[in-house]
Amino acid sequence: MQDTSFAIHPGNKQQIEGTNHHDIGNVRSFKKKEGRFVFECDNGTVNVLFYSDSVARVVMNQKQDPVLEGSFAVIKEPGYVDVSVQEKDEEVTLTAQEMSLHVLKAPMRITFKDSDGQIIVGEGKKGMGHSHEGKVICYKEALPYEHYYGFGEKTGFLDKKGEKMTMWNTDVYAPHNPETDALYQSIPFFLTLRGGRAHGLFFDNTGKTHFNMRTEAGTYSFSGDSGQMDYYVMAGPGMKEVLSQYTSLTGTMPLPPKWALGFHQSRYSYETEEEVRELVGNFLEKSIPVDAIYLDIHYMDGYRVFTFDEDRFPNAKQLVADLKEQGIRLVPIVDPGVKEDPEYEAYQEGVHDDRFCKYIEGNVYYGDVWPGNSAFPDFTSDSVQKWWGGKHKFYSDLGIEGIWNDMNEPAVFNETKTMDTKVMHDNNGNPKTHRELHNIYGLKMGEATYEGMKNNLEGKRTFLLTRAGYAGVQRYASVWTGDNRSFWEHLQLALPMCMNLGMSGVPFCGPDVGGFAHDANGQLLARWTQFGTFTPYFRNHSAIGTLRQEPWSFGEDVEANVKKYIDLRYIWMPHLYKLFRDASLTGLPVMRPLVFEYPEDKNTFNLSDQFMIGDNVIVAPITTPDTEHRVVYLPGGEWVNYWTDDIQEGGRHIMVEAPLDTLPIFVKADTVVAHGSPKQSTAVKEDNFQLHAYFGKIAEASYTIYEDDGETFGYENGEAFEKSVNLSYDSDVLTITTEDLNTRFTPDWSEITIVIHGAFDVTEAALNGRNVEMEKLDGGKLVITVSR
Ligand code: GLC
Repeated sequence: MQDTSFAIHPGNKQQIEGTNHHDIGNVRSFKKKEGRFVFECDNGTVNVLFYSDSVARVVMNQKQDPVLEGSFAVIKEPGYVDVSVQEKDEEVTLTAQEMSLHVLKAPMRITFKDSDGQIIVGEGKKGMGHSHEGKVICYKEALPYEHYYGFGEKTGFLDKKGEKMTMWNTDVYAPHNPETDALYQSIPFFLTLRGGRAHGLFFDNTGKTHFNMRTEAGTYSFSGDSGQMDYYVMAGPGMKEVLSQYTSLTGTMPLPPKWALGFHQSRYSYETEEEVRELVGNFLEKSIPVDAIYLDIHYMDGYRVFTFDEDRFPNAKQLVADLKEQGIRLVPIVDPGVKEDPEYEAYQEGVHDDRFCKYIEGNVYYGDVWPGNSAFPDFTSDSVQKWWGGKHKFYSDLGIEGIWNDMNEPAVFNETKTMDTKVMHDNNGNPKTHRELHNIYGLKMGEATYEGMKNNLEGKRTFLLTRAGYAGVQRYASVWTGDNRSFWEHLQLALPMCMNLGMSGVPFCGPDVGGFAHDANGQLLARWTQFGTFTPYFRNHSAIGTLRQEPWSFGEDVEANVKKYIDLRYIWMPHLYKLFRDASLTGLPVMRPLVFEYPEDKNTFNLSDQFMIGDNVIVAPITTPDTEHRVVYLPGGEWVNYWTDDIQEGGRHIMVEAPLDTLPIFVKADTVVAHGSPKQSTAVKEDNFQLHAYFGKIAEASYTIYEDDGETFGYENGEAFEKSVNLSYDSDVLTITTEDLNTRFTPDWSEITIVIHGAFDVTEAALNGRNVEMEKLDGGKLVITVSR
């Protein structure tokens, strides 16, 4: 086209090779302005800001000054960071304590280095750019031996090296498979592991974004169809530090009420009050623990949110109260679509008070969902947040404490599966199109719901489950992975999917146990429940028209097997609760891949079929039919078989027998886990608190017990029980030392039973310097009871 006028087209700027993007070009000027560093370039303006010594943000805008406010994900303000600036002809260097940015001027290329001067994130031939249509892109150098984790809710294996991924919240009922890309959640964050060290990158863009980790050409890229190029680099240096840095930006999960960690039972739908009562009766009669029952869309009057169908549920309040008496919570579904019905209060209010998403011309957007033609609240406006949150008084007044948000991508039954991208969001007076804000619809609905319920519950913790979300969703909700199927393959893919969600700042997640669509079978339900015992979120849910899959649906043997593992969930509850507490403080996931603990061990880099709970327990579920054994990888060190107490030398793959009632579990030697006893629900008092220590060669282990009331925010004011217990043995003497760290809450239990596995030679035990009685059991087990 060089022979036409196109040769002098005003858009003919330097292109990024092989793309239709313009390169950012050369730096024309550099200055420091109000705590940020401003680079005026040929094709845009770039700002650099520091959030801490190890977190920096880069924002590029091709049209105007970069917009720095208004992130939906980041709740942290840039901090005061001591940055030294050095400007030379070719380069500007910005140096903070843990990282430095080296900005080459011609053309602009940014290299991030750690405090040792090693490159963390580099740019080479290609850097930042943008296209005529307003798309933005950034290329980074990729090294052949690095690995990528996170990216939220994605199918496929753990390591995302070689993957191309799109972020666009999408309702995908079609079977999820390795090719399924955009799902319900969009979390444009990932960690790079490189030679045992890690760094993070978060691309804060709420429109459709793309990650191309097909790194053959030595680069990876991330790009957005709209918005600015706005990303944060976290310097690590380990995976744990990266995740803490990421969650210091986007927030950590609030500690859920303990009942949210119990076993939950759902079905699309338990349609009537009698059906719910009968269901609960079955759980009680069979002594199968359960903490929550879900009400899917049939509870409503014509699918109108904030209503009950009074024929099916004549006395919802009494039902909620009766269930609570049994220690069981009722969790109703709430979708965003408000039925277009001039005689329905929520719709009337929404129209009168201008609460719904509209086109720029002023007409309300309607889409077809369960209730038929529906309007969609514009959650980007604070007043709509308050209105929607307040509407949940309908539920809290009935005694309901937890809500299930669904269809909040938002899903619409049309070709595009969602809202018209031309619809506007008010965004508190800074209107943006749905195209630009699509991925935060679920997040903002979650915020409105969580804050509303929290406010209504006056000091009690609420629980929210959501299908859609964006970075930061952990602040409000737990996440289930949507409409999976009763396929073994879907059990398999749930492991890396949940591990990657955990590495994306979302510790509280899990799949529909047993599979949602398609018919389950007994074996699948048994194996899936075994896995669910250790997923942070544990709910059995299935679709209308499929075989029933409550624990007793496949005969007595399966029922006994499923009950054993639901019981096991409650046995492990004290430990899980402590891990949730840790996650709420640090942002580190409860369920995590082995690579998170063993980042130097190449056997863990893409290990997708086993996982860890905290830093010391490996769980290796069976995920194929008719399989009674599997290979388990144990990293270096010693590992104790939870069921047999056999000690295995790690650093190798072992073959493990796993008949249908056995889930392989290994505890790292010289560590402790806390146990309670099986119970009908978390509402039953714990009277059998145990610490199980698994002694190996070191014969030393310690644990910090954490307990609180499990239900209020008292713990935020320090109303908790924390006690450290240290165990060691030497020359046949077991030494126990304990220290009360916090006694402002009094647990239900008054004694701690310490069970030491592998204490063969102990002949004497001392607690805080005094001899104590001990009971020796077969197999090297030792039991000592100490008072709280
Ligand atoms: C969606 C949800 C599913 C729910 C159904 C009916 O498919 O993902 O969990 O049961 O809608 O509300």
